[in-house]
Amino acid sequence: MLSSVGPKIYSTPGGLATAVLRREHEAAMRVLNLLDRAVIRLKGKREISPFFFEQVVDFLEIYIGCAHHAKEEEILFPYLKEKSIEVDKIPIDTIHQDHEEEHRLVRQLEIGFELFKLKEPSGAELLIEVAGIYTHIARRHILKENSLFMLADERLSPDDQIYLRARFDLLERNKLYEGTPERLKELVNELERQAFHWE
Ligand SMILES: [Fe+2]
Ligand SMILES: [Fe+2]
Repeated sequence: MLSSVGPKIYSTPGGLATAVLRREHEAAMRVLNLLDRAVIRLKGKREISPFFFEQVVDFLEIYIGCAHHAKEEEILFPYLKEKSIEVDKIPIDTIHQDHEEEHRLVRQLEIGFELFKLKEPSGAELLIEVAGIYTHIARRHILKENSLFMLADERLSPDDQIYLRARFDLLERNKLYEGTPERLKELVNELERQAFHWE
């Protein structure tokens, strides 16, 4: 039986479900910072591998677009609503619109790197324009959600967090091939290694 109100400070075996989402936000922030730096490089007409953008798109499409957004939209937010946890303070519609917009922009980034790979000048132009919009929306979105997670932490019980975490794990197993989350987490380190020598 899950209790609806829990103490503010407690320990949950395996960590909080909301901590999983926060860690994913941190990984996304690292990629957004790299994307900013890649755009500066493109603007300066410095050499940069199209493969870098391909990997960034891979991360944003699968790790964020497919798994992270689904954990929020299919599991956490409906659960908060079900538990009547400050629903009016959770702008679920806005969050959904942000996700939709992010998905659309990632598809644009994909077109950009395909053109860039073909050495079409429009490829770099598209990447510069879309990456600028994407990073702005994604950062604002993450800040918004991090505040929601603080609210959720205050109101969810340890049992709620354990239940949500189990559902996150199941969703990941259903949506992603085995080993994909680990590969994409390591991909962030790999992208940072690639960018290490950039000025
Ligand atoms: Fe989100
Ligand atoms: Fe998020």
